[in-house]
Amino acid sequence: MDARVSQATGHAPGPLLEVRNVELRFGGVRALSDVSFSVGHGVICGIIGPNGAGKTSLFNCLSRIYEPHSGSIRFEQRDLGQARPHQAAGLGIARTFQNVALFDRQSVRRNVETGCFLRFGGRHFSSLFGTRRGRADRVAVNRRVAELLSFARLEDVADVLVSELPFGTRKRVELARALAIQPKLLLLDEPAAGLNHEEVEELFGWIREIRDALGVSVLLIEHHMNLVMRVSDQVVVLEFGVKIAEGTPQEVATDPKVIKAYLGDGE
Ligand SMILES: Nc1ncnc2c1ncn2[C@@H]1O[C@H](COP(=O)(O)OP(=O)(O)OP(=O)(O)O)[C@@H](O)[C@H]1O
Ligand SMILES: [Mg+2]
Repeated sequence: MDARVSQATGHAPGPLLEVRNVELRFGGVRALSDVSFSVGHGVICGIIGPNGAGKTSLFNCLSRIYEPHSGSIRFEQRDLGQARPHQAAGLGIARTFQNVALFDRQSVRRNVETGCFLRFGGRHFSSLFGTRRGRADRVAVNRRVAELLSFARLEDVADVLVSELPFGTRKRVELARALAIQPKLLLLDEPAAGLNHEEVEELFGWIREIRDALGVSVLLIEHHMNLVMRVSDQVVVLEFGVKIAEGTPQEVATDPKVIKAYLGDGE
C-alpha cells in the first residue's frame, strides 16, 4: 500500500464530532433515541449493534441525509444545523454506503474524480476549463486522482467501467472516492461485508493507514467483530436505537448488556 496521499493533519482543539441527544423517528419506529457520544481527532470508533439497531440511520444523520427530530451534531465545534449533504462533504465528512453507491456506467477514474470535484466546492466539470483557476484545479485533481488510484491499488483498472468490476474492487473504488474529498471524518458502513478473508485483512491495514498517515478519524459500522475489535480505539454499541455501551473494545466485549444484545437472554 502506498501512503503518498497527501493531507494536512493540523486540527482544531476539542473533539472532532459531538453527537448530543440525537433522536430520529420513522413513524412509530424510533431509529435513534437520545444517542450521545463524541469522537476525537485521529480516532477509529467502531459502531456495532444487531440488525436494525440504528447504525445506518446514525450515518444518515451525520451525512445530513436525514434530519434528526431533536438533538445536535457538532463537527469541529460547529453545529451542522441545516447543512445539506454536499455541505457536510465540504466540511470534511465523507462516507461509503452499505450497498456500495457508485456511478456504475462510468470509469473508476471518473468516479474518483467526482469525489475530488466535490472537494473543489461542487464546481462542475465544464466550469473547470478555460479559466486559469480551472486549469489549476484540473492539474490538482489529476494529481490527487493518481495518488488515490495508487493508494487503493486501482491503477490497473482506472479506465474500466465500475459495473464490470468484482464487488471487492468496487468497494475499493468507493473508499478512494470518499477519500478524494480529503475528509476529516470517514464514515464506513459495513466495509468488510462481502469481502473474502484476504480482502478483509487488506481493509484492516487501510483503515489503520487512513488514520495514521492521513490523520482522518473513522467511524466504522461493522458486523465483522474481529475487525472492529482489532482496529477500533473506541466502540459505541447501539440496540433498538439506544446506546447501550461505549468504551474500549475490551470493555464493550465484556459488558453484560452487549453480550445479552448479541446472544439474547437465553430464554
Ligand atoms: N427510510 C426508512 N423508513 C422507515 N424506517 C426506516 C428507514 N430507515 C431505517 N428505518 C428503520 O429504522 C431502524 C434502524 O434501521 P438502520 O438501517 O439504521 O439499522 P442498522 O443498524 O443499520 O441495521 P443493519 O445492521 O441491518 O444495517 C429499523 O427499524 C429500520 O427498519
Ligand atoms: Mg445498516
